[in-house]
Amino acid sequence: MSPLDILLWGVLPYVVALVLIAGLVWRYRYDQFGWTTRSSQLYESRLLRIASPVFHFGLLVVLAGHLMGLLIPKDLTDRFVSQETYHLVALTAGTVAGVATLAGIALLIYRRRTTGPVFLATTRNDKLMYVILTAAIVFGLVATLTGGQTPTGEEHNYRETVSVWFRSLLVLQPDVAAMAAATWQFKVHILVGLALFALVPFSRLVHAFTVPLHYLFRPYVVYRSRDPLPPAPSHGRVRGWDPVGTRDRDRKPR
Ligand code: HEM
Repeated sequence: MSPLDILLWGVLPYVVALVLIAGLVWRYRYDQFGWTTRSSQLYESRLLRIASPVFHFGLLVVLAGHLMGLLIPKDLTDRFVSQETYHLVALTAGTVAGVATLAGIALLIYRRRTTGPVFLATTRNDKLMYVILTAAIVFGLVATLTGGQTPTGEEHNYRETVSVWFRSLLVLQPDVAAMAAATWQFKVHILVGLALFALVPFSRLVHAFTVPLHYLFRPYVVYRSRDPLPPAPSHGRVRGWDPVGTRDRDRKPR
């Protein structure tokens, strides 16, 4: 276990957790109006209607898979299903969900690049976020599809390394050796994932922490047509602001 291992797997995750939590509190207190997806639906909705659900539902399944794979100890699942069955199900579901997520983000980026107004509304911060988000998904898929293979070609069981480390973080007893034993595919994936978590409070990704629940309970917005205009007054002036006298025809007769 090298000092770099201690830094990456023993210290960095907590620094990122601190940046994430303190950053979200800071953003909520000082930039509530900026707490938004900055939706671009108004500019383009045909592609968005397909790409957005494919990406978001794909990601939800990926998230559910992460929670299962990382939180449920292998000893427990071994009692109910064999390692082979578990692996087959995780591999199939993970690949389908991961590919859907990747296809969704690819389509979202294509739309953003090719729809003029959407591209104009894209900041440098957005571009950085897209690069890191896509990299996290790509390296996740690399880890899944290669089975995190070791240099000698053996498949690596992440539930004996990554998952053990992940749970050890939650009880504040980081098992650095467990994570140091994982293969590069998982290490790269997790480092990119941590970078993404650190970026969340400072990007559009904050929207993931908001559900517009008040929409369900707020009063209706009532739209009414205007009252018909009253007849023009006899003095000939039209309804509205008094003219300020900057144009000849606005000047009142003396
Ligand atoms: C530090 C946090 C993370 C850890 C510990 C982690 C761990 C893992 C592991 C162990 C796998 C392999 C699962 C398998 O082969 O069955 C995986 C796959 C994957 N990860 Fe992550 N991951 C993290 C963050 C992220 C983030 C932030 C994203 C994307 C936003 C992401 C997207 C993916 C995808 C798309 C796959 C492939 C599909 C799948 O197997 O679910 N991961 N991750």
